[in-house]
Amino acid sequence: MKSAPPSQFVAVYHPFVRTLHWAMALFIFLALGLGVWAAQLPRGELRSDVLFVHKSFGVAVLALIVVRIVARLALGAPPYAAPLGRLVDLAAKAGHVALYGLMVALPLSGYVISSASGRDVSFFGLFALPLLAAPDKATAGQAAEAHELFAWAIGIVLALHLAAVVWHARVKRDTVLTRMWPRFRPSV
Ligand code: HEM
Ligand code: HEM
Repeated sequence: MKSAPPSQFVAVYHPFVRTLHWAMALFIFLALGLGVWAAQLPRGELRSDVLFVHKSFGVAVLALIVVRIVARLALGAPPYAAPLGRLVDLAAKAGHVALYGLMVALPLSGYVISSASGRDVSFFGLFALPLLAAPDKATAGQAAEAHELFAWAIGIVLALHLAAVVWHARVKRDTVLTRMWPRFRPSV
C-alpha cells in the first residue's frame, strides 16, 4: 500500500508562476485603487496624473497576462494534497478562469478607451503604445462602460477568491495557501 507523503511536503506552483501571481496581484490592486480614485476626480491635472499611473500599471498587467497564460499552460499546476471534491474543484476552476478572462478584458477595454479618445498610452512614459482605434466618441463611451463593468466583476470575483483563501486557511486548515505562498527556498 502506498503511504501518504509527510505532511510538511506540499507540492507548490512553479516559482515563476508564483512570482507572476503576486506581482500581478499588486499591480491589479494598485490599478483598481487608482481607477476608483480617478473616477471621483474632476477633469484636470491631478486626474490626468492619476490616470497616467493607472494606465501604466494596467499596461503592465496586459503584458504580463500573456506571459502568465503561456507559463501556466507550459508549467501546469501542482496536484492538491487532498482532493478538493467535485463541486469545490469546479467552483475553483470557474473562479480562476473568470480571473484570467478579466485580467485580459479589463486592461484591453481600458486600452480601447484611451485609443478611441485619442489619448496616449505609455508605460510610465518609457515607451508609448500604438493606439488601437481611430478617435471615436461612441466607441470610447462603450469601452468605458465595459471597463467599469469588468472592474466590478473582478472586484466581486476577487472577493470570492480571498474568501476561498480564508476558508481554506482558517476553516479547512489545509495547504491550499501554501501552494501559492512566496518562498525563497525550493519546496518539494
Ligand atoms: C488591471 C488593469 C486595470 C484595472 C483593474 C482598471 C480599473 C479601473 C477602474 C476601477 C476605473 C474606474 C471606473 C469608473 O468607475 O468609471 C478605471 C477607469 C479608467 N481606466 Fe482602467 N483599469 C485597468 C487598466 C487600464 C488600462 C490598461 C487603461 C488604458 C491603457 C485604462 C484606462 C482607464 C481610463 C481612461 C479610465 C477612466 C474612464 C472614464 O473616464 O470613464 N485602465 N479603470
Ligand atoms: C488581483 C489579485 C489576484 C488575482 C488576479 C489572483 C488570481 C489567481 C489565479 C488566476 C489563480 C489560479 C492559478 C492557476 O491555477 O492557474 C490563483 C491562485 C491562487 N491565489 Fe490568487 N489572485 C489574486 C490575489 C490573491 C491573494 C491576495 C491571495 C492570498 C491572500 C491569493 C491566493 C491564491 C492561492 C492560495 C491560489 C492557489 C489556489 C489553488 O492552488 O487552488 N490570491 N490566483
